Amino acid sequence: MNISVNPKQDTFHLYNHEVSYIMTVLPNGQLGQLYFGRRVHEREDYSYLLESKPRPMSSCVFDTDKCFSMEHIRQEYAVFGTTDFRMPAVEILQDNGSRISELLFHDYRIENGKPKLPGLPATYTEDESEAQTLIIGLEDPLTRIRLELFYTIFEKGGIIARSARFINNGKEDVHLNTAMSLCMDLPDSDYDWIQFSGAWARERYPKTRHLEQGIQSVGSMRGHSSHNHNPFVILKRPSADEFQGEAIGFSLIYSGNFLAQAEVDAYDTTRFLMGIHPAGFDWKLSAGTSFQTPEAVMVYTDQGLNCLSQTFHRLYQKRLARGYWRDRERPILINNWEATYFDFNEEKILSIARRAKECGVELFVLDDGWFGQRNGEHAGLGDWFVNREKLPDGIAGLSEKIEEMGMMFGLWFEPEMVNMDSDLYREHPDWIIQTPGRRSSHGRFQYVLDFSRKEVVDRIYKMMEKILSDAKISYVKWDMNRSITECYSSALPADRQGEVYHRYILGVYDLYERLTSRFPHVLFESCASGGGRFDPGLLYYAPQGWTSDDTDAVERLKIQYGTSYCYPVSSMGSHVSVTPNHQLNRNTPLYTRANVAYFGTFGYELDLNRLTGEELEEVKEQVRFMKKYRRLIQYGTFYRLQSPFENNVAGWMVVSSDRREALVGRYKILNGTNQPFERMYLKGLDEGTKYLVNGNETHYGDELMHCGLVTTDASAGETAPGEKMSCDFDSELYVIEAV
Ligand code: DGJ
Repeated sequence: MNISVNPKQDTFHLYNHEVSYIMTVLPNGQLGQLYFGRRVHEREDYSYLLESKPRPMSSCVFDTDKCFSMEHIRQEYAVFGTTDFRMPAVEILQDNGSRISELLFHDYRIENGKPKLPGLPATYTEDESEAQTLIIGLEDPLTRIRLELFYTIFEKGGIIARSARFINNGKEDVHLNTAMSLCMDLPDSDYDWIQFSGAWARERYPKTRHLEQGIQSVGSMRGHSSHNHNPFVILKRPSADEFQGEAIGFSLIYSGNFLAQAEVDAYDTTRFLMGIHPAGFDWKLSAGTSFQTPEAVMVYTDQGLNCLSQTFHRLYQKRLARGYWRDRERPILINNWEATYFDFNEEKILSIARRAKECGVELFVLDDGWFGQRNGEHAGLGDWFVNREKLPDGIAGLSEKIEEMGMMFGLWFEPEMVNMDSDLYREHPDWIIQTPGRRSSHGRFQYVLDFSRKEVVDRIYKMMEKILSDAKISYVKWDMNRSITECYSSALPADRQGEVYHRYILGVYDLYERLTSRFPHVLFESCASGGGRFDPGLLYYAPQGWTSDDTDAVERLKIQYGTSYCYPVSSMGSHVSVTPNHQLNRNTPLYTRANVAYFGTFGYELDLNRLTGEELEEVKEQVRFMKKYRRLIQYGTFYRLQSPFENNVAGWMVVSSDRREALVGRYKILNGTNQPFERMYLKGLDEGTKYLVNGNETHYGDELMHCGLVTTDASAGETAPGEKMSCDFDSELYVIEAV
């Protein structure tokens, strides 16, 4: 890994074994982009990559030159109004009403490792030798705004992490109306765009289309990254697939409003922008202050989408997630939400916990409904003290009883919200986000606390800190169940209202930071009505997230498959729930529910007392299985093999880093009669190693990968006596062990 700067100090080349990232200072002083892709040789001069051609109808920078127009030049952080007409990375509104900036190269510095981003989640290094950071300083001579562009190259993987910091060295206050984290101009547009979109209970479905001239984008203006779109986009070559070909992944480490956008211009170049959504964003950058954008991560590969995902998995698992639980196998939990909803008392909870303990479950999680007057959706949020009618011995008493059973205890909070029917709201009706003179919309009868205000965050911290320190709590589920509307803070002046969405998220991060530092051994799981804020920003604080409120195994197959494009298995909360399923009314076999949930953090969300004896034995066996294989599953290398979006039979697998162990999941959605013969072609094994498959047959790695694992099931022809009948929603696990 290296960052080389040519002697004239106008070309910068960041490279490691896999990628090169090259940029240059342009003749007008702005910064130009030359190349991002597979590693190329180092040389002093790459100016041949700077194509400036005279083109009709262009506006040009120099009065003696018809060639140099920013409209046709690929840039690093494009500004509007200096001959480029594409969407810019930055827009700064100045005192005289002008929105034109000219950010010219001024200086650079190189740091070993990676500097922290103040108040924001970001990737990090544990040792300075793991990465190097180039910081390029650009300045606008008129406004004296300084922009620092941060580029970190990691030693391993085709990863470049980027962010921008604005410093107002001028005398005037200005307004940042657009301040993207990343601007990436690519030399052509022959890409398929893949976004990860959906809605509540069907999050992160991959959706693909070819780039065309014009703009395509996804984003969120809901105050959270959202169920609807994830802050992650892949641009891949049309011929690339899971196993080969070129692709670039763009991921934003942020949990609030975001925009990811590709603009293809008239000359088939592509500008990719990613950052805080400019709509509704207006940051007053007073003289002498600075503003830091969130971090965006780009990953390049020429080895297909599995390789791209694996690079994100490793980075986000090891150098974004932090703390005690980062590298630890995750406890198998039982959560009472779908078992009881709001209708519980201590006895009911203890009976579920007892049964779970018998089955080998390690953590009991008490969900919504334990506090204030919370007996339904209308009341209680904000009152983070126990409801003694339900739990006479308090959380401390209950957690002790659970611990005495030999299980850990976890608790649900929704810290950012308040019901009007709560003591907190009655005391501080002005603490919610609301616009003076306007109606306040509710979501699930709840209102959003103004986390842009420190005193609000302080108060919630105090309540949570007390509960967490008075009781034996090992896990927190942090939920968030509505989007922000009528966004306005009564604590900020008129010219700072455009800061509220971002300040809100900074408040959320601040509370997370305080709680995770004060309780470093507590495992945090993020949640937002399931996967409404499943993003890298929260992964920094909470190493796992509740992937979706949809617990149906077949639906989950799609959701977890889509989520895996960016996020590691260890981050995906996944539970076995009851049938008929509460979201879909569908019946699936208990083994299929587990076979899907294993590929995540694994747990149960049902009342085990309602299962038959036979089912309980099956659950015990599942728990034993997960304990044996969870290190492999959660920390192995994950491969998508066959997509549930394209096939009736889906498959995925994990392989241990030494390639001596693997686990394959095969899932058949609908059964059929007299079905074709089937094989699944495995990946990541060692060709020369002999493996035992499910304790039966042995095969070399090359056979399993090239001839394929034979998976033809009983629906092909007649079922032999004693053979398991296949059925709808069937599934099979294959344990592969080196002999
Ligand atoms: C939404 C979450 O996603 C559910 O798991 C559950 O915690 C409910 N909220 C509780 O209100």
